[in-house]
Amino acid sequence: MGVLQIDLDHLQAFERGLDPQHVERSAIPARVLGYGEISTVFEVQVDGLRHLACKRLPIFQTPAEMETYTAAYEEYNRLLNGEIGITIPPHGYASFLSDTGRPVFYIVQQQLPSESVGHRAMHVLPHEQVLVLVRRILGELRQVWAFNQRQDRVQIGIDGQISNWAIAGFDPGHPHVDEQTRLLYVDTSTPLFRVQGVEQLDPELFLRSAPSFLAWVLRRFFLADVVNRYYDLHRVAVDLIANFYKEQRPEFIPDLVRTVNEFLTTEAAALDVEPVSEQEVRSYYREDAFIWSFYLTARRIDRFLRTRLLRREYPYILPGQIKR
Ligand SMILES: Nc1ncnc2c1ncn2[C@@H]1O[C@H](COP(=O)(O)OP(=O)(O)OP(=O)(O)O)[C@@H](O)[C@H]1O
Ligand SMILES: [Mg+2]
Repeated sequence: MGVLQIDLDHLQAFERGLDPQHVERSAIPARVLGYGEISTVFEVQVDGLRHLACKRLPIFQTPAEMETYTAAYEEYNRLLNGEIGITIPPHGYASFLSDTGRPVFYIVQQQLPSESVGHRAMHVLPHEQVLVLVRRILGELRQVWAFNQRQDRVQIGIDGQISNWAIAGFDPGHPHVDEQTRLLYVDTSTPLFRVQGVEQLDPELFLRSAPSFLAWVLRRFFLADVVNRYYDLHRVAVDLIANFYKEQRPEFIPDLVRTVNEFLTTEAAALDVEPVSEQEVRSYYREDAFIWSFYLTARRIDRFLRTRLLRREYPYILPGQIKR
């Protein structure tokens, strides 16, 4: 995996001039590489930071909280790569207090070609090879659950979404994936793992970027379920298939359900995972799409209230319209 050296001076200068409402118009501009449901990944347009992918987490209330997170982040990377053998891009991090005294954490990775990320590549690969790509992702996921089954001291959770995997050596001019293709896992900012049954990441952190008027509802009704989802291969697989709805390619769903079930009954049979049904993927997607668009709308309202009415800082970079 390798550890990146990070140009802290430039990153702090970026933070100083950051416009979270329009990252691309910050004093040092940034180019957005990708939006997830919660965060934004971008390239800072200055020598020393170009060719890197940065994800900014302004969610910490104290430096101590950020230190605990840092330890979990590093250990998660080590577990995925060192213990399980999942390839992760060379990465590092930077953490500091902003000029306003806010602890900020930047995850920094070597930037991978955008076209090589799964949700882009799936649109240019031949149908059969999209299924191969999903099989390769399932193969990586199997390693995680095999690890979890081998011992019970540490249990690792992972988000298997198609947009979290990049294809090594991908050539958009000649898109190709086969059983030997290597994948890289990029989404390491949610270090979910349990040691002797104890979650190492404080789940409260999930709620920090949520509007305060929603936090209690989310905590009460959704939090445990969202966290548990990442430890359950059946649900991670359902989520992976449901991504094809989000990517406007529902025609893949029947073949993907077959692919997953075949995988679960052959290669992954020892894991004893319930098969997946199309019906289940459909209703899961409906609910998931509703939750995330509701969440994003609530965050926009929160941003409006804070910046326009209360004239306060709103620290989060929100995604634009997401087509679902
Ligand atoms: N190292 C990288 N190089 C190029 N693009 C990247 C890199 N890391 C992330 N991206 C882009 O940004 C997108 C979002 O990244 P990632 O999956 O890490 O965050 P996320 O899904 O927003 O996380 P969450 O929603 O869990 O906070 C990816 O799908 C990808 O398109
Ligand atoms: Mg992601």
